Amino acid sequence: MSLDCVILAAGLGTRMKSAVPKVLHTVCGIPMLKAVITVARTLNPERILVVIGKQGERIKNTIGSLGVSYVLQREPKGTGHALRCVRPALRNSRGVIVVLNGDTPLLNPDIIKKFLRYHKNDKNSISVLSFNTKNPEHYGRIIRNASGQVISIVEDRDADSMQKKISEVNSGVYAINYDAFKIVDKIPVNPAKGEYYLTDIIAAASRKNLKTSAYCIGTEEELMGINTREELSKASALMKRNIVQSWIARGVNFLDADSVSIHPDVCIGKETMIYPNVCLDGHTRIGKGSVIYPNVRIRNSDIGNGAVIKDSTVIEDSRVKDRASVGPFAYLRPGSQIGTDARIGNFVEIKKSVIGERTKASHLSYIGDAIVGKDVNIGAGTITCNYDGRAKHTTKIEDGVFIGSDSQLVAPVRIGKGAYVGAGSTITRDVPPMSLATSRVHQMNREGWVQKRQGSVGTRRSATQKAADKRGRTGR
Ligand code: UD1
Ligand code: CA
Repeated sequence: MSLDCVILAAGLGTRMKSAVPKVLHTVCGIPMLKAVITVARTLNPERILVVIGKQGERIKNTIGSLGVSYVLQREPKGTGHALRCVRPALRNSRGVIVVLNGDTPLLNPDIIKKFLRYHKNDKNSISVLSFNTKNPEHYGRIIRNASGQVISIVEDRDADSMQKKISEVNSGVYAINYDAFKIVDKIPVNPAKGEYYLTDIIAAASRKNLKTSAYCIGTEEELMGINTREELSKASALMKRNIVQSWIARGVNFLDADSVSIHPDVCIGKETMIYPNVCLDGHTRIGKGSVIYPNVRIRNSDIGNGAVIKDSTVIEDSRVKDRASVGPFAYLRPGSQIGTDARIGNFVEIKKSVIGERTKASHLSYIGDAIVGKDVNIGAGTITCNYDGRAKHTTKIEDGVFIGSDSQLVAPVRIGKGAYVGAGSTITRDVPPMSLATSRVHQMNREGWVQKRQGSVGTRRSATQKAADKRGRTGR
């Protein structure tokens, strides 16, 4: 069966009270429209057409191509009118056109596939996917005749008191055979709203005796439409819960699943343990058997197997290799790579640097634009001075180097293999391999200096001080 997919995304979204187009509002970090496109792609259609309106450029810029074509609806004259706008683009279509709303981010592809099977097996011209809800007032009601056949869909504002009681509602997902598609031109204007309602396609099809069915096979949790911010936050909570549940099912441990937030593109290995308040964002991958302690945020990063990310650490666009340990309170800025078995400790900031295997930077350091070899020890308070006010420069620290505490390495500079840098040094020139570099003022000890100072203070006492001391001694 050849399939084309149309996604309606040209509405104004007035109920969101936002300058951002409704379909770009995000659920778990994903714009709603992108979530719908992702579902559409799983159906393997010939084409995906996205109907956009006045804010179309912004939508295109945010969503990008993703294998879809955009069709312009110049004015938002309703969902029926939006579908009319794709008629020219679909003139070579042969099979079925599946219509989705761009504001239904929780769509479950399995339900859509099941729906399309029913549509085909029952040889319908038009099918609509429906569900039951306790709050039908947000949706169009499915009106069936005495024999259970769907005859129309009535929007809440047009429904009479009997119709308002109906709990079966329209999901906004339709399957329309191309042969019947021209009926979208027959949709009348809704007198109350002055718009063309796609829902009226059902009544129009019944009048033409086209075979039409409504399949009540989904749930609100997977089909809900988002019109308000309240619904958006509800959908976010549902998606968040679904994502965490799916990782639990695949063998990931959570100490407090409700407090964790995981982006849909994240991947987590088995036996990994995730503590409370962890946020895993973007295209992050966590390996097997790792531990992510509380209050950690990781974005677009790759964490290896058996790694340990300790409390309150932030990792962005970086890579942490197997069994490495980072944190607590560490910050890996974009472009950092932490080698196997390496250790990055508390209050260490790393930026655009490579840290070799088994290397340690355990406390209070800034390492930026550096290439650090294997088995290096970076003492507390070490700073790579990578910026001269104009440009960034590289620090190279070769294998087996020992950097004493409180050292500044003024880049560009190279510390040769096996070299030592004495604590408190400011290194401005390259250090040859296997040598010791110190650069600090030589220590001078003046013995007896303190007593001498006290004596000299005595000789310089003022007359008033002396008089006061005397008064003190005589008790006056
Ligand atoms: C629509 C249905 C309702 C259904 C509900 C499911 C109609 C008239 N009503 O109501 O029966 O229960 O979805 O969620 O269809 N759009 C356009 N162009 C327009 C108007 C809207 O492309 O001129 C797009 C919107 O961007 C949105 C989708 O169509 O993605 C649905 O529009 P919306 O205004 O949200 O319809 P609802 O009132 O939710
Ligand atoms: Ca809607």
